[in-house]
Amino acid sequence: METILYEGNQIKEAAAVVKNGGLVAFPTETVYGLGANALLPAAVKSVYAAKGRPSDNPLIVHVANFDQVKAYVDNFHPLTEKIVANYWPGPLTLIFSIKKDSLPQEVTGGLSTAAFRMPDQALTLALIEAAGVPLVGPSANTSGKPSPTTADHVYHDLAGKINGILDGGATKIGVESTVLDLSDPTKPPMILRPGAVTQEELEALLDSPVLLDGHLVSATEVPKAPGMKYKHYAPDTEVLMVKPQDWSTALKWVQEKQKRAGVIAGPAVSETMRYDTAAVFMYAKDTVEAASKSLFAGLRALDEPLLALDVILVETFPDEGLGTAYMNRLSKAANGRFFETGEQ
Ligand code: TXA
Ligand code: MG
Repeated sequence: METILYEGNQIKEAAAVVKNGGLVAFPTETVYGLGANALLPAAVKSVYAAKGRPSDNPLIVHVANFDQVKAYVDNFHPLTEKIVANYWPGPLTLIFSIKKDSLPQEVTGGLSTAAFRMPDQALTLALIEAAGVPLVGPSANTSGKPSPTTADHVYHDLAGKINGILDGGATKIGVESTVLDLSDPTKPPMILRPGAVTQEELEALLDSPVLLDGHLVSATEVPKAPGMKYKHYAPDTEVLMVKPQDWSTALKWVQEKQKRAGVIAGPAVSETMRYDTAAVFMYAKDTVEAASKSLFAGLRALDEPLLALDVILVETFPDEGLGTAYMNRLSKAANGRFFETGEQ
């Protein structure tokens, strides 16, 4: 199959394809999603096949407005209105209990709940509106690879396997949306996946507690978001996280062991590394926002077989605010491993 690259003036064409069961990847403010008509079981099935993704992993239903959700949900959590008014469109996915059999089992993975999100991306909102149906949209990467933050990343993974890609340029945030469980109206909201909308922010808005799924804190608990249990975002090259105070030791280790090392870091660290490492992927600023935006692109770039790196060293950030989402994704890519003297 030839994969068409759609520009912003071809929304109608792209919408017709996706409405009729084709696969069209779309940009969002977080990462690119692999779009399919959420109401056509066969189309949703083909999403799993294109990604090579286990089919017990439920998908996010992308909508163009909150009213669209009401076709599937009648039992809303009392905090829904306030949350939606503040964060939609935006990087916040909401889990609701759904009306029985209102969505195909291929979307929900057979659960009695489903995930909904209204992305903050004008092209994609127009695409969903023109299609006239909600679109599922898992990240548009091959399963196990870093999520795509440009149309090129999508093309690299899925060319020939999908009908098209709507090109909206590089995504703004770079890590996937916060997943918030609102499925039980009697319980406090619970974050199942950290993202740009943080626990601190939500608690301040709601003036009531917001829980964090225990496994995000403890490695032994079973995650409630099914997708969180898989090894995700993993490049083939070994990845090690490096804390700020460990960069000079890490550099010595690279020299002593004659490692072909790549570095993903901001300007401050990159400038000290440039002449000792085989490749540096430097992002624009020493902020967790800039780091998050570039993390997946950096992992993809430095994982290129042509570079033949032995190891990729990546800068850590404090586990707070957006840093919680950044460290969650980085830690998965690194299999939980930090650079620690003598342990490599
Ligand atoms: O930012 C994003 O959310 C991107 C863009 C494209 O919108 N999409 C995305 O989709 O990351 P995906 O399929 O890669 O991740 C969906 C997450 C998974 O962790 C999945 O297990 C969880 O949401 N999820 C979906 N439905 C659920 C449900 N009913 N209960 C609990 N978790 C659910
Ligand atoms: Mg994903």
